[in-house]
Amino acid sequence: MSPLHVTRTLPEDATDAALRADVRDGLTADPKTLPPKWFYDARGSDLFERITELPEYYPTRAEREILVARAGEIAAASGARTLVELGSGSSEKTRHLIDALTSLAAYVPVDVSESALTQAGRALIAERAGLEVHALIADFTAPLALPGTPGPRLVAFLGGTIGNLLPAERAEFLALVRSQLAPGDGLLLGTDLVKDERVLVRAYDDAAGVTAAFNKNVLAVVNRELGADFEPDAFDHVALWDPDREWIEMRLRSRTAQTVKVPALDLAVDFAAGEELRTEVSAKFRRDGVTAELAAAGLELTHWWTDAEDRFALSLSVLR
Ligand code: SAH
Ligand code: AVI
Repeated sequence: MSPLHVTRTLPEDATDAALRADVRDGLTADPKTLPPKWFYDARGSDLFERITELPEYYPTRAEREILVARAGEIAAASGARTLVELGSGSSEKTRHLIDALTSLAAYVPVDVSESALTQAGRALIAERAGLEVHALIADFTAPLALPGTPGPRLVAFLGGTIGNLLPAERAEFLALVRSQLAPGDGLLLGTDLVKDERVLVRAYDDAAGVTAAFNKNVLAVVNRELGADFEPDAFDHVALWDPDREWIEMRLRSRTAQTVKVPALDLAVDFAAGEELRTEVSAKFRRDGVTAELAAAGLELTHWWTDAEDRFALSLSVLR
């Protein structure tokens, strides 16, 4: 069995500095915000995996349906020898792609969640004899130090995670991905599609309260890392659809007027009763918008596949 190569491109203190800057900027802004990448400590990654199994949360099932049906076509169009996956999490759905990519030599999962990466990496090495796995603990919004594995490369960004970036961040991110591709390389992008508001809101406000726990987990991360005294039960989980921006927003609404201390930042943050802290946007897409955003980054959409109910899309752009 080949070993699991794990590279941390972000030193621990850089992560710490990034969290500090994000928390200071976000909690002193009006309205208050926190970026969604801080959901994913070990507990947050486990909660996300539970979300993917909820009856209300259709994106994972819809994307898996497309991958099962189209993995052969994706493999034929890309011919990838290295599969790089951004925000790979458990790499669960990716197995369909890995099986179809018959010339694949290396899999490079990239994630900020060390627990998700090492768990997934070890399992894949045990299951797929001969596959080199180079796990990269890194922020996918920064340039990546990719290993010197053979091309062509296919960069997969699944799950609809691109929707968790704001429009300007998406443009910057896609341009960065494009700058790291060589001719013959490709981008496989998963995007959740605009649909009935009730279906969308239910997916982000499930009956069992798993998404609420996931949302509040960001407060536990800030408490643990920066010594803050957020009381998760003093906030309500909110999920709402913004029809103009075509995105779901997750927020945490303060039940009372309260002051939260963040000692590591020497900060006291006042919340009014009912005040909301935005913790995530999850943008939903249309084909024209995806095509235009890719084109603006210098990428041409060559394939577009959806599930039978048109809930989710996978698109492929291969560089000439
Ligand atoms: N691709 C998987 C997991 C999606 S959850 C799926 O489709 O099910 C989003 C994943 O992206 C999490 O594992 C999270 O840790 C990771 N992530 C979020 N922001 C990130 C960032 N800026 N850099 C790297 N990984 C990030
Ligand atoms: C990872 N990302 C695509 C998920 C989403 O649907 O936006 C995160 C999530 N937030 C709440 N539920 C799931």
